[in-house]
Amino acid sequence: MITCHCNIITEREIEETVWRLLDEDCWQLIVPIKVYRALEKRGKCCRCFPNVVDIIIRTTEQYHAHAQNSGADLIVFREKLIRLRNHYLGEFNAGPRKGNRAA
Ligand code: FES
Repeated sequence: MITCHCNIITEREIEETVWRLLDEDCWQLIVPIKVYRALEKRGKCCRCFPNVVDIIIRTTEQYHAHAQNSGADLIVFREKLIRLRNHYLGEFNAGPRKGNRAA
């Protein structure tokens, strides 16, 4: 399934990239821009980022469940990812910023 329509990036590509990044450092914080950089792509409209963060959260949980890391470590890490997701959702739901003028 296509997750990013601007760059034609599939959900599967994002999952594989997250998995590869976690193999390099299993406790790094993965954000959409890091995934896109690994795929040699750039966010254009960035409307896919909330969905990308959801995929990152799900894939990270699967990775750590597979690696059988401590449950407490996973809870702390998941909370960080959820804050990141809410940050991105807040930006998109807030509408235009003050000071931005329509052309
Ligand atoms: S849909 Fe992903 S950058 Fe536009």
